Amino acid sequence: MLRLVFSILVCFAAISILASREAFADVVTCSGLVPMRYRNDKISITDFGAVGDGRTLNTKAFMEAIYRIEHLRRRGGTLLYIPPGVYLTGSFNLTSHMTLYLARGAVIKATQDAKHWPLIAPLPSYGRGRERPGGRYMSLIHGDGLRDVVITGENGTIDGQGAFWWNMWRQRTLQFTRPNLIELINSRSIIISNVIFKNSPFWNIHPVYCSNVVIRYVTILAPPDSPNTDGIDPDSSHHVCIEDSYISTGDDLVAVKSGWDEYGIAYGIPSHDITIRRITGSSPFSGIAVGSETSGGILDVLAEHITLYNMGVGIHVKTNIGRGGIIRNITVSNVYMENVRKGIKIAGDVGDHPDDKFNPNALPVVKDITIKDVWGENVQQPGSIHGIKNSPFTGICLSNINLGTPPIKTPWQCSDVVGSAVKVSPWPCSELAATHQTCSIPF
Ligand SMILES: *[C@@H]1O[C@H](CO)[C@@H](O)[C@H](O)[C@H]1NC(C)=O
Ligand SMILES: *[C@@H]1O[C@H](CO)[C@@H](O)[C@H](O)[C@H]1NC(C)=O
Repeated sequence: MLRLVFSILVCFAAISILASREAFADVVTCSGLVPMRYRNDKISITDFGAVGDGRTLNTKAFMEAIYRIEHLRRRGGTLLYIPPGVYLTGSFNLTSHMTLYLARGAVIKATQDAKHWPLIAPLPSYGRGRERPGGRYMSLIHGDGLRDVVITGENGTIDGQGAFWWNMWRQRTLQFTRPNLIELINSRSIIISNVIFKNSPFWNIHPVYCSNVVIRYVTILAPPDSPNTDGIDPDSSHHVCIEDSYISTGDDLVAVKSGWDEYGIAYGIPSHDITIRRITGSSPFSGIAVGSETSGGILDVLAEHITLYNMGVGIHVKTNIGRGGIIRNITVSNVYMENVRKGIKIAGDVGDHPDDKFNPNALPVVKDITIKDVWGENVQQPGSIHGIKNSPFTGICLSNINLGTPPIKTPWQCSDVVGSAVKVSPWPCSELAATHQTCSIPF
């Protein structure tokens, strides 16, 4: 009798947990930020002479198909279908009201011939190419001033064949800044889902001066030693939602940015209202990063349910003198990390400068950073927080964090910081108070 009652209770508990999970999943998704578009007008890249043999160069077919979408302007937009096969191409521009649809087994593969990578102007908030002065190579898939664009399908692949570029970087023979795999500038209502991104020459997905961007169910892969292959970098963009994705690259998995030193300060476009959730991945650099290019400001970022393996730094807020800008209201919660060099790093001395014209008195302001519910296994150093001497970081609030049990080889290190730590093990530093009185965000 007792057993029966017990199993009924267990059953009931299981059902209610499932029910609440479902309700949670329902509310907490990117859906609603950008409506999904289903397009009646469909064309295939093969109608424009594309050959998916992995050898034929198809840049012209992509350009002609997209020209047709742009100029025929069918009601509700047009879907460009990429059938199974390997389609070699140089860079091309997307247009508004289109879906780029990669079938299962479809691969859009970047050519390794630099003459099929045109140069474009540097971003005004960077003042120059990120790596080299002057212009930069246009991304493989590029868009400027677009709206209502979907890149999706059945987990087809966009392959940047980055080794060619990584080698130029290693040999210091790069003339201009390497191209991103996808860059969207000044665009809104964007969905990127169910696509695999592989071996980007540089950053993988770079929305800059964009709004209403949803990135979900993507896989992003590059070797751990590939230089600067960031996963997703929302930059001077707002209302961006990134969720349910696996990212394993050679640099930061997700890094929120907003321009570089005097150029970013002058351009003045912040990143705000950024949600990042249910991301799993690994990298020798950072898992969830803010910065280091933060000159336009970075506000209202929420990252939650993050799982990290074999990482450099789990959570990293990074900026520098000369950046200016404000970093405020950043919340990171529910993070599990395993085999990590450093769990949490908040630092005011990270990243290089575009040139020697940066203003050393342009000190960034960092305040109201909440990090809670973090669990780590095999973490070499739990964390460090180093503010800036004349601009201490304030409202840095840590709670319910367990990054290993003492003795720890390298303990926490802090300077120029005001905030609190409650239920944090190992204990951070004397600079942080043991109650949350100084925290603006309620726990
Ligand atoms: C593609 O877009 C870029 C940036 O807007 C522009 O400079 C370039 O001329 C465009 N290329 C083509 C072929 O339309
Ligand atoms: C594509 O990959 C995503 C993410 O891994 C997965 O959730 C989804 O079910 C896959 N879709 C298809 C059509 O295989």
